Amino acid sequence: MNILFAASELTPYAKTGGLGDVLAGLPAALRARGHGVAVALPLYRRLRASLKELQRTPLTLSVELGRRSLSARVWQGVSREGVTVFAIERDEFFDRENLYGVNGEDYFDNAPRFIFYCHAVMELAGMLNPRPEVLHVNDWQAALIPLLVKEARLPFKTVLTIHNLAYQGVFPAAEFALTGLAGFYFKPHALEYYGRMNLLKGGILFADAVTTVSPGYAREILTEQYGCGVNGALKQSVLTGILNGIDTDLWNPATDPWLVANYDARRVTAGKRKNKEALLREFGLAEGPLLGLISRLTEQKGIELILAALPELLSRGVGLVALGSGDAQYEEALRKLAKQYPRQVAARIGFDEQLAHRIEAGADIFLMPSRFEPCGLNQFYSMRYGTVPVVRKVGGLGDSVEHGRTGFTFSGHNPESFLEATVSALELFGDRKRWKEMQMAGMRQDFSWERRVPEYERVYKTLK
Ligand code: ADP
Ligand code: GLC
Repeated sequence: MNILFAASELTPYAKTGGLGDVLAGLPAALRARGHGVAVALPLYRRLRASLKELQRTPLTLSVELGRRSLSARVWQGVSREGVTVFAIERDEFFDRENLYGVNGEDYFDNAPRFIFYCHAVMELAGMLNPRPEVLHVNDWQAALIPLLVKEARLPFKTVLTIHNLAYQGVFPAAEFALTGLAGFYFKPHALEYYGRMNLLKGGILFADAVTTVSPGYAREILTEQYGCGVNGALKQSVLTGILNGIDTDLWNPATDPWLVANYDARRVTAGKRKNKEALLREFGLAEGPLLGLISRLTEQKGIELILAALPELLSRGVGLVALGSGDAQYEEALRKLAKQYPRQVAARIGFDEQLAHRIEAGADIFLMPSRFEPCGLNQFYSMRYGTVPVVRKVGGLGDSVEHGRTGFTFSGHNPESFLEATVSALELFGDRKRWKEMQMAGMRQDFSWERRVPEYERVYKTLK
């Protein structure tokens, strides 16, 4: 099958979270199974600077964006995993430092930027040889494509994957004109959402199939509580939950070039000790059980539970290494704690891929008390690195961490429940034999994308 992926992120060139990791891993795994696969992205500044074998193709697209006729040149390169990447050049929109905005503020022109991108991908798909049979679009940035395809009666099947329902691409009604669609589509049966335009909703209603990134989240988002206002639309779609995989080469403690010592399941205790010592030294922390956190610092991630429970945990002699960026209040709170407890808390505010690997290897316990979590990837990385995850039993976290066997889970969204689960983990940490059993149980699991590919193939096969 020939599949063209459309998404706004690709690790390591353009990443704000797990979306980029999925776009690096899933297309590569499909390609390894013999499918024809390519990914289409905006040509961001960083992509231009770092994508392998990047060169201009003879293809030029012409896109109607509202009243403007815009052209876009197409570049082609190869991802780190060897997948063909098409990059759509339009510097006024994409030659920027960041993907979506600066300092937590969205760029003012995200509607034209990504509506333009959707039109361009659709044009591109029609020019490719061989022609893609499936356009696999991801999240709101690419979600207009299924409707554009239907409206133009193009011979593509479309799949929408929702990585996070909390981001829907909702814009003022005035931006609807940019889609070039007839007013008929600015109605509740299509893009209209309480008087505004909702791009993700369009994808949900017009894609031939909708998937999301775990079975648990697929069930949750049909409910009022987790449905973010579009559970009704989702009920009209054909929705499948498929758990994410991970790149098991990139996240492999036996070969990870960023660790001070490599290790596998047989040498986990000694290997992790060396990595932990290096991490403690790097941040000037005292010896003791070490908690790790790597996260976008947003409401989704349950950071407030960690902040509330931390004083009690610190009084038990544990340490915390936190890496993340996002909402100013969480950044500030973590910075403050690090100042207050310099020997127990380290906070690195920012984005640092290499440090993320060192934390996974050096921490004993990894914290993910998310309020909601479509899938989550760090719990997989943690288990693979022998770092026991403490997670809230929600979405993909509930599907991937088994309480008492591969990690600890809790249900209530309150500091007490989180504290209880973390204290259970700390108690087990004191029992070397049982701790090692838990580490091994996590390390022996297969989280590879290869395992997930048949589930996506099944979805592609159902498209009529
Ligand atoms: P989400 O996509 O909701 O942010 P995931 O757990 O699916 O959550 O994926 C997050 C990805 O982003 C992981 O690869 C994680 O290591 C990475 N990540 C998040 N914040 C940072 C950061 N500050 N520095 C480095 N990597 C980060
Ligand atoms: C989103 C979700 C996260 C998921 C990732 C990749 O950012 O928040 O849970 O793992 O997408 O699918």
